[in-house]
Amino acid sequence: MAELGRLLITGGAGFIGSNYVHLAVREHPDWEVVVLDKLTYAGNLENLQPVKDRITFLRGDIASPADVEQAIAGADAVVNFAAETHVDRSLLDSRPFVRTNVEGTLVLLEEARRAGVKRFCQVSTDEVYGDLSGTDRHSVEIDPLRPRSPYAATKAAAEHLVFSYGTSYGLDVVVTRGSNTYGPYQYPEKIVPLFITNAVEDKPLPLYGDGSAVRDYMHAEDHAAGIDLILHRGESGQAYNLGAGYEISGLEVAARILEALGKPPGLKRFVTDRPGHDYRYSVDAAKAEALGWKPKWSWPQGLEQTVRWYCRNESWWRRVKERLEFRQHERQWYSDR
Ligand SMILES: NC(=O)c1ccc[n+]([C@@H]2O[C@H](COP(=O)([O-])OP(=O)(O)OC[C@H]3O[C@@H](n4cnc5c(N)ncnc54)[C@H](O)[C@@H]3O)[C@@H](O)[C@H]2O)c1
Repeated sequence: MAELGRLLITGGAGFIGSNYVHLAVREHPDWEVVVLDKLTYAGNLENLQPVKDRITFLRGDIASPADVEQAIAGADAVVNFAAETHVDRSLLDSRPFVRTNVEGTLVLLEEARRAGVKRFCQVSTDEVYGDLSGTDRHSVEIDPLRPRSPYAATKAAAEHLVFSYGTSYGLDVVVTRGSNTYGPYQYPEKIVPLFITNAVEDKPLPLYGDGSAVRDYMHAEDHAAGIDLILHRGESGQAYNLGAGYEISGLEVAARILEALGKPPGLKRFVTDRPGHDYRYSVDAAKAEALGWKPKWSWPQGLEQTVRWYCRNESWWRRVKERLEFRQHERQWYSDR
C-alpha cells in the first residue's frame, strides 16, 4: 500500500492500542502519530507516558463526528482500537457497546471516506466466530461469523460495516481478528492481570464454572506487530486472524500465575459461570503468517514477562483498582457469583 505519513490511532490509551502506539513510535520514527481516545474507565494516559512527546493526543469520542473530523484531518491511515471490550460488562449493559463499537466505527468510516484516508484497519477479535467447543478445529477467515455475546455481536456488526465501506465506496479496508491478548498495560478486569494482581493481594482468583474454558493466548507485542504487518501488507477487503496457537484453560492460567508468584493453589475460587459462556476459541493464523507475521513470545515466557511487569508496576495497577469504576464493577459482577 501507499506510504504512510500521518496515522490516526483510536483507543491508543487502552491496552493493545498503547502497545501499538509504542511499536509505531519505535518502528516508524518518521510517522506523525495522532491518538484519539475518550479515556473511558479503560483508557489510561499513563500507558502513553513513555511516548508522550512523540505523539499528538486528542481526547475525544469516535462516535462524535466533530471529534473524528478534527482528529482525522490529514491522516493517511486509521487503525481503530477504540471499543468497549469487556464481555462481562456487555452482559450487564450492552448499550455503550453498540454506541462505541458499532456507531463509533460507522462515524470513523464515514469521516475516513470524506477525508480521503488511504487505508482503514479495523481491530476485531476471534470472538466474532463464536464457540468452537466440542471440535478440534481452528477458525479460518472464511468461516461464518456467529457471535454469541453482546460484545462479540457489536464487533461483528462493526466488521460488516467496515467491509461494506470497502465494497460500496471503495474505501481500502483491512480487518484483523486477534485472539485473547495479555501483557503490560492491560486493565485488571481481564483474566491475566486480574489473576496476577489478585494473587499479589492474596485475594481469590475467580474461575467461571469448572475453569475449563480455553482461549488462544497471544502477547500484546505480537498482536501489535501483527496489526502493523496487516496495515502495511494486508490485501484490501480481507480479514486476517492473529493468534499464537497456545490454547490454555482458565485453570491453567491460574495455576501458572500462582506458581510464578509462589502463592497457594487454594486461592483458586470457582464462581457461577458467565451466561452463554463460549468454551473455546482458536484461530488458524496461516494467512497472516504467509505475509511474514510470526509471534515472538511463547506462552511461558510471555506470562513470566507479564507477571514481572505487574510486580514492577504495582503503583500503576493499584491506582486503577482503587478507582470507583473498578470497585463498582467488581462488586456488581462478583457479589452474587
Ligand atoms: N484484549 C483482547 O484480548 C482483545 C483481543 C482481540 C481483539 N481486541 C480488540 O482490540 C481493541 C483494543 O482492545 P483492548 O483490550 O486494548 O481494549 P481496552 O478496553 O484496554 O481499551 C479500549 C480503549 O478505547 C478507548 N475508547 C472506548 N470507547 C471510546 C470511544 N467512544 N471513543 C474513543 N475512544 C474510546 C478507551 O478509553 C480505551 O483507551 C478492541 O477493539 C478489542 O475489541 C482485544
